[in-house]
Amino acid sequence: MTRKSRETFGSRIGMLLAMAGSAIGLGNIWRFPYMLGKNGGAAFLLLYIVMLIVICLPVMISEYLTGRRGGSNPFRTFDRLAPGSKWRWIGLIAVLASVCILSFYCVVGGWSVRYLVEACSGGLMGYQGDYAGFFGTFISNPWKPLAYTMLFLGMTGLIIVFGVRKGIERMSKIMITVLFVIIVLVVIRSLSLPGAVEGVRYMFVPDFSKVTANTCIAAMGQAFFSLSIGCGCILTYASYVHKDENIAASSAWIAFFDTAFAVIAGLAIIPAVYAIALMNGADPDVSAGPGLVFITLPGVFKSMPLGGLAAVLFFLALLLAAITSAISLMEVVVAFIIEEMRRSRLRAVLISFLLCGGIGVFCSLSFGPLDGFRLFGLSVFDFFDYITSNIMLPVGGLLLAVFAGWRLKRADYIDELTNGGTLKLPRRLALTIYYLVKFVAPLAISLIFLNCILS
Ligand code: PFF
Repeated sequence: MTRKSRETFGSRIGMLLAMAGSAIGLGNIWRFPYMLGKNGGAAFLLLYIVMLIVICLPVMISEYLTGRRGGSNPFRTFDRLAPGSKWRWIGLIAVLASVCILSFYCVVGGWSVRYLVEACSGGLMGYQGDYAGFFGTFISNPWKPLAYTMLFLGMTGLIIVFGVRKGIERMSKIMITVLFVIIVLVVIRSLSLPGAVEGVRYMFVPDFSKVTANTCIAAMGQAFFSLSIGCGCILTYASYVHKDENIAASSAWIAFFDTAFAVIAGLAIIPAVYAIALMNGADPDVSAGPGLVFITLPGVFKSMPLGGLAAVLFFLALLLAAITSAISLMEVVVAFIIEEMRRSRLRAVLISFLLCGGIGVFCSLSFGPLDGFRLFGLSVFDFFDYITSNIMLPVGGLLLAVFAGWRLKRADYIDELTNGGTLKLPRRLALTIYYLVKFVAPLAISLIFLNCILS
């Protein structure tokens, strides 16, 4: 495939919303609130923001810049920018990381499809037992979650078949807009409950006693995961971006949207959990881990006025967020198959579906029949979640920073960042970004790893 025949995004807003769609996902609505709950509320938020500015934003800018300059899938991009070197194998690992993430991501995507279906049919609010039982019975069933996982993956594939503009860009635009409107409605409902202010206080008053070496790695992993950096997603989307785009500004916008959305999702969930617990005279439990959204929240919805409607809206939001991220993950694999294995888009989607769905089967079954099976002491699902967020993405980010800071020439980096000097980006800012990528990001990522290994 020649460079000229490659598709591009149709508009700046379309590109921004597609990238924001990749970033905003289960990581914001499902993962962030429970990480916040587990790791000291605002203390985690502060740490997260520091990681974001010092490490993740510079790495994101570099992934974006590398992708636009290379103009291809991760494997070929590295090969073009560093011909004949081993860097292209790093590109291949990025493609594999995307496969690994999508394989467990689609399982949670499947759960959100089921919850949406149940919320719409009244089955969720009408359920009489406790929601831990509802969730547990569902995910341990050998067939049902699998069917929903495949449905979710199928919807993702269907969007991608239509290509970059007609599929990814168009659907991201619609879905992200709807998502914002919905989540704001749910926040209004959550904040208007009596006692909600306690939850808000929890989110914004830091408890530093909960900060340990593990909190640092968790905040860093969450920031990488949430921004979709380190596994070739931003790189692949950037290869569809016009040469006149302001890379630093777009990256900053996406990081801002993503963080704002995570905080908004927290505001939709945590104050509601507090308010309902206080109303029932119970202790608010926001550190319920992955079950926060699927176990605690349905109970909260059930106890509040207009809860049925809030449940439908919330699980629709969860599904939309999950799909826009899943399409970016699948597109990494699809672009690789189209360009390196010379298959049509349709075939590439089918192959990706089978690959991720195949591994997804094991992730899904690890809550049921494969419950006892352990990989390095973790269930298959937890293994993929842990190695991708806490290891593959930060290591991918580290290698990217090393590539951009040490392998690309400084002049080329600045040239790409300023679009050949045509942008009015202050030179001092461009140099600061460059040195953050060259020295600070790799050092900080390595130190956090070291600290975690030694503690
Ligand atoms: N950023 C997505 C989320 O927050 O749910 C997840 C994700 C998408 C991670 C794409 C990594 C990635 F490459």
